[in-house]
Amino acid sequence: MQNVISITNDIVWVGGNDRRLALFENAFPIDRGVSYNSYLILDEKPTLIDTVDKSIGDLLLENIKHALGDRSLAYLVVQHMEPDHSVTLKRVVDQYPQVVVVCNDKTSKMITQFFGSEFAPQMQLVKEGDTLNTGSHQLHFVMAPMVHWPEVMVTYDSTQKVLFSADAFGTFGAISGNLFADKDTFEREWLDDARRYYTNIVGKYGPQVTSLLGKAASLQIDYLCPLHGPTWNSDIDFFVQKYKLWSSYTSEEPGVLILFGSVYGNTENAVDILAAKLAQKGVRNIKIMDASSNHHSYIVAQAFKYSHLVVAAPTYNAGVFTPVEFALNELKIHNVQNKTVALIQNGSWAPTATKAMQAIIDQMKNMTYLNTQITIRSSVSPQEYQQLDTLADEIVASLS
Ligand code: FEO
Repeated sequence: MQNVISITNDIVWVGGNDRRLALFENAFPIDRGVSYNSYLILDEKPTLIDTVDKSIGDLLLENIKHALGDRSLAYLVVQHMEPDHSVTLKRVVDQYPQVVVVCNDKTSKMITQFFGSEFAPQMQLVKEGDTLNTGSHQLHFVMAPMVHWPEVMVTYDSTQKVLFSADAFGTFGAISGNLFADKDTFEREWLDDARRYYTNIVGKYGPQVTSLLGKAASLQIDYLCPLHGPTWNSDIDFFVQKYKLWSSYTSEEPGVLILFGSVYGNTENAVDILAAKLAQKGVRNIKIMDASSNHHSYIVAQAFKYSHLVVAAPTYNAGVFTPVEFALNELKIHNVQNKTVALIQNGSWAPTATKAMQAIIDQMKNMTYLNTQITIRSSVSPQEYQQLDTLADEIVASLS
């Protein structure tokens, strides 16, 4: 059965939710599911903004049919070709064979790569600054390359001040009835997933996101409509400010992410001692994450959030314990930078973990090491216990 939700008097959400998918992009756990947003402008020339993943293709078609009634679809604007938003393009065109597919040059090439050339005759190519009049709505196209693929563009409806923002301002998580976000609910229920979505999906492309924010800064935006998660008609600046921090690799708040690996619990013991000392010295924001049991996407998100990164790991195969090595490489790949760093290694006979960890961290920008580096020999000794206290003091001093 159709489930169409109004956004304005003549813009409706025709997307849906998938709560069965375990891994988004077959990579990221989504315990709360995900929504695929598609928007229909019910103007003189009805216009659909993007399609959805195949898991909810039937619902999309039912929603469009319900919203349009006997009318036909005039335009399909393709903002992004990642299949979670484009795979049902062919089904929409099959249902509305007269539809004009509005896209840019890069998108048209991807459409051909994914679907063959059958849609070429009905494509209308647009570029930066081009507009499309659908009757009473005036759509403006803004290119947003690498947010998150090179063909991405966003669409600004200057009539109702709506920014259809493609992947930007999206989040993991299915929608529970309330399509519109508000700051308090979002901070409580969505922000962690929004940060994890941003940092892992487009976190690598901060400069490109900053560029898009610059273009959007001159627009009056009353409605923000991303391709995943809730839409916004208030508190938009709250989310924009988060994007400014994330895209400029500025930590959201002072705090310490302690990333560790531990084979038999001795390195974990050192981490717990350090965290307890930090807490006793007044640090409130401390997050301990075990690289063996936390999916890397959660670690990447917390690394973006906090100002300090402590990494503790055993030596393993004359290098660093593999789960920690994997997590550090994920931080590097996602361009984590501007952190204050401390390293703790454990080694019973030839400790090499610090050297291996440094080799990865040295490839990340503007990472500042604290002076205290600790080597644990098998289990925490009284002397190493004192060194943890010294490290805690140094972290506290650098937090203020
Ligand atoms: Fe949800 Fe880059 O697509």
